[in-house]
Amino acid sequence: MDGQLSIFETLSAGQVGKQKRATSNVVNVASVPQRSPFRYPGGKTWLVPVVRKWLKQSKEPKILIEPFTGGGIVSLTAAFEGLADKIVMVELDHEVAAVWEVIVNGDHNWLADKIYSFDLTPENANTILQKKDKTTQEQAFSTILKNRIFHGGIITKGSGLIKNGENGKGIKSRWYPKTLRDRIIAVGYVKTKMEFIAGDAFVELERIKNDADVYSFIDPPYTVAGKRLYTHFEIDHDALFALTAELKGKFMLTYDDTEEIRGLARKYKLDFKTIPMKTTHHIQKNEIIISDNFEWWK
Ligand SMILES: C[S@@+](CC[C@H](N)C(=O)[O-])C[C@H]1O[C@@H](n2cnc3c(N)ncnc32)[C@H](O)[C@@H]1O
Repeated sequence: MDGQLSIFETLSAGQVGKQKRATSNVVNVASVPQRSPFRYPGGKTWLVPVVRKWLKQSKEPKILIEPFTGGGIVSLTAAFEGLADKIVMVELDHEVAAVWEVIVNGDHNWLADKIYSFDLTPENANTILQKKDKTTQEQAFSTILKNRIFHGGIITKGSGLIKNGENGKGIKSRWYPKTLRDRIIAVGYVKTKMEFIAGDAFVELERIKNDADVYSFIDPPYTVAGKRLYTHFEIDHDALFALTAELKGKFMLTYDDTEEIRGLARKYKLDFKTIPMKTTHHIQKNEIIISDNFEWWK
């Protein structure tokens, strides 16, 4: 792992313009088990090796909060690998939130069984997706279904059903009921230390901002791509930087590397580093990691 980290481009707020280009790709994603039931646009699986290092910076008991949970890979990894004593997940999107509500706070076995026993046909899928006034459990199942049969896992309005799918398998091309069931059942074994809050990241960060033992992993909707990917894409980035700068605990805030974000980091005197990553469309871009300290980075 250390060898991989050494190829990161290192750059602090004061060094903008003097950066060193990284020459090779960054993280070995094969070292990261896929634990989330979601296909999540902008998912952070690729960043997990870095997050592991960040969480291991001290052996003190810690609470991890993931205020923009999405697919939740960071929370799940921390739970499975014992990287935090307690894990708090927060998500505002009601479709996504229903899934975590059922898995973390509710009857995860119900969802696992529902997925496993569902006969996926376009007709059956439409019946589920179009039902009005869903219970939380029905919403959770509907979200997972939509996430698996819509293009790229995108569940915002305007996204569409997979037509021919990968390998011409139609809507079944991303429907892996046994894998999904097993992932959900696995979460059931570690969920006693997890809590899910269907709510607003800002409210929850405000609540914990004076707690030194809370580690905040903050991955807000992207400035550039957010609109297409998420229903809740509009957040006040300046306010998020301001709140993050006030946190007494450790934090890691991730963003697209843009001038606007570098400007905000400078404005709030926050140090950052950049990491090269490849998007799902194989475009190489940089991601910014902002943290209260970078002792853990070496
Ligand atoms: C970039 S994604 C997180 C991806 C996640 N790190 C992963 O690996 O899957 C941002 C998430 O924040 C959610 N979100 C947007 N605004 C929010 C808010 N104010 N409070 C909580 N969640 C919010 C979006 O619905 C989306 O799921």
